[in-house]
Amino acid sequence: MNILALNSSPRDNETSKTELVLQTFLTGARRAGAVAETLYLRQYKINHCLGCYSCWLKTPGKCVQKDDMTETLFDRYLQADVVVLASPIYHATLNARMKLFVERTLPMMDPLKEVPEGAVPHRFEKMPKVVALSVCGFWEQSMFDAMSLTWRMCLAGDLIAEIYRHSAEFLSVPEFQVTVQPVLDALTLAGEEVVRFGQVNPETMSAITQPLAPPDLMARLAREFWASGGEG
Ligand SMILES: Cc1cc2nc3c(=O)[nH]c(=O)nc-3n(C[C@H](O)[C@H](O)[C@H](O)COP(=O)(O)O)c2cc1C
Repeated sequence: MNILALNSSPRDNETSKTELVLQTFLTGARRAGAVAETLYLRQYKINHCLGCYSCWLKTPGKCVQKDDMTETLFDRYLQADVVVLASPIYHATLNARMKLFVERTLPMMDPLKEVPEGAVPHRFEKMPKVVALSVCGFWEQSMFDAMSLTWRMCLAGDLIAEIYRHSAEFLSVPEFQVTVQPVLDALTLAGEEVVRFGQVNPETMSAITQPLAPPDLMARLAREFWASGGEG
């Protein structure tokens, strides 16, 4: 299985919690025999969709623009067996860079194709399955509701798993490592399960989303962190 991961965090790989969760997941996928590569969207020039519908009307399946989407990313997406779309939560949904990428996949759809209600009218024969992966700062799993709805509506049956980890900034806090380790183990297991079974076991998902500490403690520690100027 050939996995392509797209990480839309603007942060460097040592700081990004999307990267931490993504690479832990990919470790499991590789362990189960997949070949996985990560591309960082921050390193690519992706223009906004022009909304001209040339990719539907004049040059079906092809965008009129010339940038890294048309030169590289579009083809790389189609070549993968599984794509992991990894975006941090910004303002309760996917971040702008990931949205930019997704909007430029419009040429992959064919408005003339008749498909069952809710399915995506794919233009191309072979489409990758998709794993959505995200992290957020707050400690409520509901923070991923809008993102989940977006991915389910846009990807329909192509979406095979959603890996969402709240309280992500605490994953690298040394004092939390005892409760963090089972989460990381479950993320690795999720990577294995996607490769072996094409889905993630509900128990594995529960382990991924388990709380690291009571919400009032998380809230207090977060306030102390910001009050310390980001040093604490
Ligand atoms: C502009 C911005 C908006 C954010 N909005 C939310 C939000 O709505 N809910 C939340 O829980 N965290 C929010 N966060 C926190 C990030 O999701 C969190 O820091 C996450 O670890 C960032 O992922 P990264 O480390 O891979 O960049 C926001 C962060 C930024 C910079």
